[in-house]
Amino acid sequence: MEQAHDTIMNPLHYSGKSLGLCAVLFCALPLAAQNPDGTTLYQQKCVKCHSDPAEKRAPTPAAMRMMSAERILRSLESGVMMPQGLQLTPAERRTLAEYLSGKPLDQVAPKPKRKKRPLKKPAEPATSSKN
Ligand code: HEC
Repeated sequence: MEQAHDTIMNPLHYSGKSLGLCAVLFCALPLAAQNPDGTTLYQQKCVKCHSDPAEKRAPTPAAMRMMSAERILRSLESGVMMPQGLQLTPAERRTLAEYLSGKPLDQVAPKPKRKKRPLKKPAEPATSSKN
């Protein structure tokens, strides 16, 4: 009898739990906002023109998939999409370029002045063939 009474009269017993839950939620939310994925970014910043059939000039996602990631990045940084690109962080522009092209950015970046290749090519069986 006396024990049940104690629990009801002690509000700290309950608020302690809900405070912990709040802390977990507030820690998780900013993290998610800082690293939005390509889908989220596209939905937030680009979809209103690029998935709008009335906006005839804007390439569709399918058309942008034919472009290189570098081209999309360039367009956001110094091309026709600069006004949109300026509202994004550099990381977000890269995310979008890779997401929309479906290709990684760094892979194609050529380093023209480096000649580190050996003169003789080692005889290698074609092990890396993709099906
Ligand atoms: C206000 C409408 C609008 C928004 C918002 C918009 N775009 Fe565009 N985008 C266009 C139009 C219109 C064109 C075609 C421009 C042209 O060819 O002159 C275009 C062209 C492009 C191109 C092709 C550029 C090229 O070099 O041919 C890319 C890539 C692109 N947009 C990416 C994006 C991305 C990524 C976003 C989101 C961050 C975005 N756009 C947001 C309207 C928009």
